[in-house]
Amino acid sequence: MSTIAVIGTGYVGLTTGACFAHLGHDVVCADVDAAKVDRLSRGEVDILEPRLDELVAEGLSSGRLRFVVGGAGAAEDCEFAYLCVPTPQSPDGAADLSYIEAAAREIAPVLPTEAIVVNKSTVPVGSTRVVERVLRRPDVRVVSNPEFLREGSAVHDFLNPDRIVIGSEDEAAAIRVSSLYLRIQAPTIVTDPATAETIKYAANAYLATKISFINSMAAVCEAVGADVHDVVLGMGYDHRIGHDFLKPGPGWGGSCFPKDVRALIHTAESRGYDFELLRSVVAVNDQQFERIARKVAGAAGGSLEGTRVGVWGLAFKANTGDLRESPAIEIVSRLLARGAEVQAYDPAVPTDSADPALERVPGLRVVGDAFAACEGAEVLAVLTEWDEFRFVDLDKVREAMAVPRVVDARNLLDRTALYRRGFTYEGVGRS
Ligand code: UDX
Repeated sequence: MSTIAVIGTGYVGLTTGACFAHLGHDVVCADVDAAKVDRLSRGEVDILEPRLDELVAEGLSSGRLRFVVGGAGAAEDCEFAYLCVPTPQSPDGAADLSYIEAAAREIAPVLPTEAIVVNKSTVPVGSTRVVERVLRRPDVRVVSNPEFLREGSAVHDFLNPDRIVIGSEDEAAAIRVSSLYLRIQAPTIVTDPATAETIKYAANAYLATKISFINSMAAVCEAVGADVHDVVLGMGYDHRIGHDFLKPGPGWGGSCFPKDVRALIHTAESRGYDFELLRSVVAVNDQQFERIARKVAGAAGGSLEGTRVGVWGLAFKANTGDLRESPAIEIVSRLLARGAEVQAYDPAVPTDSADPALERVPGLRVVGDAFAACEGAEVLAVLTEWDEFRFVDLDKVREAMAVPRVVDARNLLDRTALYRRGFTYEGVGRS
């Protein structure tokens, strides 16, 4: 078993640290936020991630997981230092490496001889070299080991990965990193750092492409009177296509896809290649926000001026409280711009939420339950696919609304049950 430092305790870092401790390694997680380190040391996990609190508690009680302030304190005795810090987008579309560079600079003087630094953050192609240059430690190898964790199932994805990707120029270092995953059964791809970094971007860009494709097909289905669900069913049995990631919806969002897709477009452009396909994938996604906003306006008779709209869901997908680049927020901002009065409920967003993403939608009223969102509303828009909405008492919804009209951007609700109660209903890609 190995000694691992994890720098950064966001959802990637904390999941990585807690899962490595669960696999039997000795892990020290570092963060710059002292209050967060205090909370984590008491087992308080403030992100919504199934099993993460359980694994943190397990690691704390076994002594295999500790939390410290500052990377240097974690890295001084480690064999591996995992960099799990954010790589936000710079104004020009490129990924901002300043957090990675700062972390590398901090741990460089204290890393034990022949330690291995591992990039887990999604970093632009060439970043392994950047970290090597900042470290200035010829005895220390830098290896890329990108994560493919979905929010809401990050622990499951870490422990049951589809594949493990390791990018290193040094075979011995690659073998040492792969040995950390010995208890996990998964195909392991060992390649050079640039290829490992590219795999991460290619995977996210391809997944976003699938969603934009199916959202475009949904528009075609509406135009020709076909049902997109059956189209996906029929397409997906072709083993070259598959059924996954072909759910039509309000568009893709979150902390990864938008940033990574834009970063890949930027990388390609900076090397002289115009990634026209991906630019269209982004354009289709923007159109999708607009298409849903138009459906809501259409349901209300064309204009939203002074119309009360109830919204179910603000998170970028179900089972997370993450509002970063959420399609729901995009759509709400378009409804507000059209003069609607919007009241929204999301199981993961408290009524007094100070989430910075809400600054994009001043005027939005966040309410405490699904019925409060429907109160006096002339249209209800379903924007996030929380299970809770599937099982809401539709009679009570009918009673609460001024006019029973639903626009279901996730094709979540039971259309027949709604029709039976006198609702008008519009989904995505189904006539
Ligand atoms: C994603 C990748 O899946 C993960 O491998 C990577 O490491 C990080 O980015 P995540 O951001 O958690 O994970 O979200 P994901 O579950 O992939 O969904 C992204 C967006 O696409 C969400 O807005 C979701 O609602 C939307 N989506 C997803 C669809 O609209 N249709 C689908 O079929 C799938």
